[in-house]
This record gives sequence, structure tokens and C-alpha cells, in this order.
Amino acid sequence: MVTLPTEIRYKPYHQWTEKEIQDIKNNIAKSPWRANYHLEAKMGLLNDPNGFSYFDGKFHLFYQNFPFAASHGLKQWVHTTSTDLVHFTETGVTIQPDTPLDSHGAYSGSAYEVDDKLFIFYTGNVRDENWVRTPLQIGAFMDKDGQIEKIKDILIPPATDATEHFRDPQIFKYQDQFYAIVGAQNHDKQGFIKLYQAIDNDVTKWQEVGNLDFAGTGSEYMIECPNLVFVDNQPVLLYSPQGLDKSELNYDNIYPNTYKVCQALDTKTAKLIKPSPIYNLDYGFEAYATQAFNMPDGTAYAISWIGLPDVDYPTDTYDYQGAMSLVKELHIKNGKLYQQPVAAMTNLRQSQEILANKTSTNNCYELEFEVAENSQAKLLLFADTNSNGLKITLDTEKGTFQIDRSQVGEQYALEFGTSRSCSIPKQQTKIRLFVDKSIFEIFINDGEYVLTGRVFPNQEQTGIYLNSNNISGNFYQLKG
Ligand code: FRU
Repeated sequence: MVTLPTEIRYKPYHQWTEKEIQDIKNNIAKSPWRANYHLEAKMGLLNDPNGFSYFDGKFHLFYQNFPFAASHGLKQWVHTTSTDLVHFTETGVTIQPDTPLDSHGAYSGSAYEVDDKLFIFYTGNVRDENWVRTPLQIGAFMDKDGQIEKIKDILIPPATDATEHFRDPQIFKYQDQFYAIVGAQNHDKQGFIKLYQAIDNDVTKWQEVGNLDFAGTGSEYMIECPNLVFVDNQPVLLYSPQGLDKSELNYDNIYPNTYKVCQALDTKTAKLIKPSPIYNLDYGFEAYATQAFNMPDGTAYAISWIGLPDVDYPTDTYDYQGAMSLVKELHIKNGKLYQQPVAAMTNLRQSQEILANKTSTNNCYELEFEVAENSQAKLLLFADTNSNGLKITLDTEKGTFQIDRSQVGEQYALEFGTSRSCSIPKQQTKIRLFVDKSIFEIFINDGEYVLTGRVFPNQEQTGIYLNSNNISGNFYQLKG
């Protein structure tokens, strides 16, 4: 993050001059690390996915954005649409922090089609002259032409059992009734989630059902971006529990993104029935605030912020930070969540060759390969001629998978370690791996395990080296 004085981070948008904006754009254009097929902010910081939904025959995705630096300042939502969940196009529509109900930021939230409009449910971040925060859950409607009409009333006022940390409403429909969950912190500084119900199914009127019982321990101090989605008919809770005790879940990132698979939702008692243990949603270096929604036919799609709060990135000097992950289709197998890139990702394939050493790529490709059982394999991506690169090691005999980014490009977030790992089944293992300039996303065994992260390679780091004969598969050049 770039450290900027509060007055600059919260300066009204219209006070930024053309010259200042042009300087930011020029600086971004100098970055060697801009992604080819991942969504990044046109300007400034991109964080959470917001309002991921289907409406008017298109997919809609907004991103949280502070446009004027790689910094968390006055946030807006920036709208994109997609017809294939692979290409997202900015429409020019934004939800700006421009009313007394969202004066200090249009914070995260969700969207759902209601009566021919897209209902947008978000948190208005409001601060007074003493910088005391009041979080308001508020809304807007977007019509098919992208006209935004903000709802004048507060939809959910601050909760008496929550501190100022009360945000990120997610709307979902269950048995034809609209519900919403909101992330919160209680007065004992524990994270929790509140469940609401739309009165008479009117999304502009909400009443509390209760605090969602998902068998959480409260070891975290805040739950951000809770998201309930139905996957193969089972409720799955995705959430970002900040400060979660590591005895509860092993994780290395500053904040984890986690999930629980449940059997059912009891909306009378606000209880998720038979929640699984808590699992990491992603084993890589950065994936946070994942948002998922159900299509009318039940298909569940998810997208993550490839980034983390409170972490500095090498792109910060170029006035931008953060990217969206690929869209992942969700399924459940043996009680675990599987995340697979959407089928249309194969449309980006330009050419195919047998996976072998390559001294030079443009770091814009996909690999699909298998490693036999009882064997070890090593790969170096973003490799240079000195055998530096992103090191991937897998052992199907011991059942281990590891990535190490200590030898590639510009280093950052070193206090959280330079490697990540997960246990994998001791069997023949299938890997699908996407590389995009400074982003990698690794899907193991059809998405049983996912590792997402960034590396910031130097100019020479464009090679692929296979350090083993146990790898067989394909290399696909991808279109930008
Ligand atoms: C998560 C988060 C949300 C909040 C938003 C503000 O990254 O802190 O809880 O609504 O970012 O940009």
C-alpha cells in the first residue's frame, strides 16, 4: 500500500485534477506486470468482488476500487459485464460514495435481480467529524441501461450487538424468500454473522432473524464478506475470518478465506445444520473476500480478490494493486468444495504443444498435466537461465504439494513466508495451471485444492523448466 494522508485518500473524486489522473494512468502503463486475461482496476486499488450476479441475460461483476492510488481510500464500485465469465468489460457505470449514507465509501455488497432491475445491497461507510464510523446497510437499483438509483432509506441500521465493524451484506434467495447475511464484530471483539429476511419479500425492507449459527468459535475478531451459496443443493458458507486462531485452521496469509459445507439452512432458527469443519478455500498466497452466487438453474459461480488487505505489493509504485481471479464453478464431492475454472476458459487457448522445457514464453499460458502415482515432480515457472523461478514441487508418494516464490522477481510480504503447501491424495494427480504475467492459479484434481498467488518476475523470467520425466501434459498459449 502507498501510505497517503487521510485527507488525500478521502478527497472527493471531483477534486482530482485531469493532470493528476493522467499521471496515474501514465504510471500504470509503465508496469511490466499488467495481466492479459485477468481483470484489474483501470486505476488504483482493486479489492473485493461485489455484486456478482446474473441479470438481463448477462453476468455482472463490480469491483471495490479506490481509483487514485494503490491505497485503501474512498471506495466506489466499478461495474463490468460479461457474457462468458471469461471476458469482463467495464461499462462506465459506478456506484460512487456521493450521498450522506455512503459519504466515506461504497463498501462491499451483493446484487440480485428483482422485478427487471438489479438490486444492489451494500455498506455505506459513514464517518463523522471525529472520524467515528457508522456502518449503514443500504441499497440501489440498476436498470437495464445501467442507470443507478440509490434507495433513500437505510435498509439495515447499525446493529446494537455489533461494533462499527458491521458490513458486506449478501443477498440470496432460499425457498422463494430473500435473505441477507452481514459480517460483524461483537462487543467482545469476536466475529459473527447476522441473518436478515426481507419483509414480504420486499428487498427494501429487512428484519433480523438472528445471529447465524454456523458452529463458529469466535476466535476471529471480525468476519468480512460472508457469503452463502448453494452448491449441488447444499448450503456452503464462504467467509473471511480476520484473526482466526491458527490452532483452529492452519494458514499463512495475513487473513484466511475459508468455507464450511453444511447440510441445510434452518431459517427459523438462523442455523446452518451440520456444518463441516472449517477449511481453507485456497492454499496459495492470496485469495480473499470470495463472492459466489447461484444462477437461476442452481449453478454456483465464485470469484476471488487476488490480493489481501494490509499487504504491500510491488505494483504499488505503479499506482495500482489487486486483480480478480478466474471465475470458478463450484461443486461438492465427498463433503469438500471443488472449484474449477469455468468451461469457457478453454476458448482462450490459441495453440497447443506437448509440455516440455521452454526458455521463453510471454508468461501468458495454461498448463495441463498429470503426475503418476508414487512419483515426484518439480517445475520451475517464470524461470530464468540461473534456475530461479516459481518452484512447484509435488510428491504423489508422500502426498505433498508445494510452491516457493522466494527465487522469482520482486519479493514482498516476506513476513508471511515465501512458500505455501497442501496435502494431496497419494495417487495420480492432475494439475491445471494458469499463468498471466504476474498471476498464477493452480487447480489440483479438478479443483479439490486451489493455490492462487502473484509473483513479480523480472524481464528474463519467462521460462518453463521441468525437472522430472514424470510430468506429461500440454502447454497452451493463451490469448490476451
Ligand atoms: C474486505 C473489506 C470489506 C469492506 C471492503 C472495503 O476486503 O474490508 O469488509 O466492505 O473491503 O473496501
